[in-house]
Amino acid sequence: MFDRPIAISLSPNTKPDDVRQAASSLLNIYNWQKGSWEKKVISWFKKYFQVNQVYLFNSGRSALYCLLKSFNIGPGMEVIIQSFTCVAVPDPIIWVGAKPVYSDIDNSLNIDPAQLTQYITDKTKAIIVQHTFGIPAQIHMIKKITQKYNLILIEDCAHSLGATHQGKRIGSFGDAAFFSFGRDKVISSVFGGAAFIRNKSENLKNLSNIYSSLSYPDYKWIVKQVIHPLAFFFILPLYNYYLGKFILYCFQKITLLSKPIEPIELTGGLPSFIPYKLPNALARLAYHQLKKLSLFNVRRQAIARFYFRQLKDINNIFLPPDNKEAIYLRFNILVKNRDKLYRFFRQYHILLGLWYANVIDPAGVEFDKIAYTKGSSEYAEKMASLSLNLPTYPSLTDKDSGYIVELIRKYADKNNRR
Ligand SMILES: Cc1ncc(COP(=O)(O)O)c(C=O)c1O
Repeated sequence: MFDRPIAISLSPNTKPDDVRQAASSLLNIYNWQKGSWEKKVISWFKKYFQVNQVYLFNSGRSALYCLLKSFNIGPGMEVIIQSFTCVAVPDPIIWVGAKPVYSDIDNSLNIDPAQLTQYITDKTKAIIVQHTFGIPAQIHMIKKITQKYNLILIEDCAHSLGATHQGKRIGSFGDAAFFSFGRDKVISSVFGGAAFIRNKSENLKNLSNIYSSLSYPDYKWIVKQVIHPLAFFFILPLYNYYLGKFILYCFQKITLLSKPIEPIELTGGLPSFIPYKLPNALARLAYHQLKKLSLFNVRRQAIARFYFRQLKDINNIFLPPDNKEAIYLRFNILVKNRDKLYRFFRQYHILLGLWYANVIDPAGVEFDKIAYTKGSSEYAEKMASLSLNLPTYPSLTDKDSGYIVELIRKYADKNNRR
């Protein structure tokens, strides 16, 4: 009774120590916008990635938007991204006035380098490489292509902080990289992000100027985010009862809690909270989580190994690539009748993940507004129709992951016999 429910996206990284940080942050009203925690997060990133300058933003979207501006990307230009992504990636391209061009993916659910050159035109300025679910893309092959065609390479590390490729940290390969500290990302300050540029002094200067011109979000926005871990700490144990769901509904209705994506973003519009600097109150939460990053990722990898061992022989369930350097932010399985399996889990009060059940997620994205043509990325669309994410978040217990495996077996037994 009153156990935390198994739910992939309800504040998955938050533990009591994070709640204490949020409470202290909330009480420290004079330091909500500016303060020393920002500097700590910046130092952490500088050391981890061996870069001279790091800039903090209030989201990955803000970070990407400012990076694109720093590279002078604008009207009449194209930026290649992959299909099987979140609308948060094409949107910043649209906000700067450029056009997103969608490349199909391979079975790692990342951009397929073998197909990439067919999307390059005279207007192509940059390629954004996403390391989906924390599985590294084939970054060396992609880098060769960007070098050959003189394109900017931006790494989208929203899912992959801490992953490596041939021993080198993801985020170290491109001309630039950005990160997200969103509520269900690798580390979380509810909203937040970071970006850096390597070896391009002119663009780095631009980024520094753009960052200086930004403001901090207002107090109301900051409070909404800081309250998030506190609210979930009380709501989650009640979530399996009507009371918990009702409280969450009320909090969202009176907009006491923020939504991860605003409706305007589904049509390529710019929401009011972008672009801003990362406020100090959230930098405090991010820094506290960064200190736990390697523990978090070791745990995620252990859970992924468990799924690999336990699910390998189940008919009609296909597992992600087994990559020892991946961090498996989510463990994405492919299954026919995905929605049926999702509903089956709901009967047991378990909420699995549906990133990217829509080829450009979430549901409701207007494809024509973000320049996506339905049917253009055949493989990505197929993967979107089959994908279901199993949780690997750090507080998932062995009992929880064992229960998930047990339910998948039960479902497969029932359905494969027919
Ligand atoms: C692959 C990917 N890139 C970028 C982003 C943007 O991050 P944020 O939510 O912090 O703006 C997201 C998350 O929505 C994402 O999933």
